[in-house]
Amino acid sequence: MKRAITSRLSKFYERSPEARLVVLREMGAVDDVSFAHLARGGFLDVTVADHMSENVIATHALPLGVGLNFVINGRDVLVPMAVEEPSVVAAASNAARMVRASGGFSGEADPPIMTAQIQLDDVPDPTAACARILEARARLSALGDASIPRMVARGGGVRDLDVRVLDEALGVIVLHVHVDVGDCMGANTVDTVAEAMAPAVHAITGGTMGLRILTNLPLRRLVRVRAEVSDEDVGGSELASGIARASRFAELDVFRAVTHNKGFMNGLDAAAIALGQDFRAIEAGAHAFAAHRGSYRPLSTWKRKPGGLVGEAELPLAVGTAGGLSSAHPGVRAALDMLGAATAGDLAIALASVGLASNLAALRALAGEGIQRGHMRLHERKNSVQATDPPPAPSGPRSEVG
Ligand code: MEV
Repeated sequence: MKRAITSRLSKFYERSPEARLVVLREMGAVDDVSFAHLARGGFLDVTVADHMSENVIATHALPLGVGLNFVINGRDVLVPMAVEEPSVVAAASNAARMVRASGGFSGEADPPIMTAQIQLDDVPDPTAACARILEARARLSALGDASIPRMVARGGGVRDLDVRVLDEALGVIVLHVHVDVGDCMGANTVDTVAEAMAPAVHAITGGTMGLRILTNLPLRRLVRVRAEVSDEDVGGSELASGIARASRFAELDVFRAVTHNKGFMNGLDAAAIALGQDFRAIEAGAHAFAAHRGSYRPLSTWKRKPGGLVGEAELPLAVGTAGGLSSAHPGVRAALDMLGAATAGDLAIALASVGLASNLAALRALAGEGIQRGHMRLHERKNSVQATDPPPAPSGPRSEVG
């Protein structure tokens, strides 16, 4: 049973890791099971790990922190973040505090539609074959649904088909199968559908069967987030203008856009890893989306408005609160518990909000004093902890860099 969660926890950084965890427990942000797991250091049992992967010899740990100050769609949200880079958690928390003063982040996610591709080569008269596929749409969709009965029972299933000729002369066509995957990331679901449907598609088209696999550019599963920040909260109108100019630089130049997007993904990936998401899929989709209109673009922008800035971001996010590691990995279970996202869409909105916060923190630092001063201080602290040292003492106040 959740109690009132606040993500505004002043002086959280001054406490020990154990005391921070007790604060979360007392607030009801983690249940007894998650608390017990985290209080033991969050270690994954090697026998559990052995079932997850192959040739397992041990587990590999990262620091797990909490992103603070987030208000997302009117709700206070604690964001679990697993990352080794100093300042990512502090920077996102600091930016979230600035945004909080203007009402926090707002966002919306598309329905959870994942897309699989079925490739066919050497198809005679590819355009006519495409038309025949679409005529058989209902029968093909039913075949797909029959392969995922439990997903269909939960309200998911095949929603749409579309087909394209990729090379008329070589007879290459691709069928896209769009599937509602509910609160799952959905890779296994759509791969199952594609494999089940492919023989019937092949019988319609002739030619040579090709691949049957999801696309990691799920364009029907976009998330959009928005945030405002006042000149005063961001550190003055000069700094706000500097942030807007930095954002425009990313719109004008691919070399800057990719670094801008790396900073955006700093916080998003950290949260995605803590929450057990497929961060390789997320990264692949984000950068393909950044480039899909013909030139590589920033995933987020910050523009001037009277007295402040408006930030917006859009990207595809194939993430889930069900399936995958959500119940198998106790740390992921604890992280999902802490975040409290009710649906995969809520999870996507939270992740994109963390990305926008990281991005604001980075641009603010870059438009101001530069990132090196804060970075170097934190790197020194990290380097002072040798690999063989016992766990470090409670950490001091963090930089606001990113
Ligand atoms: C460093 O991890 C991220 C930044 O380079 C992002 C950016 O330049 O916007 C600071």
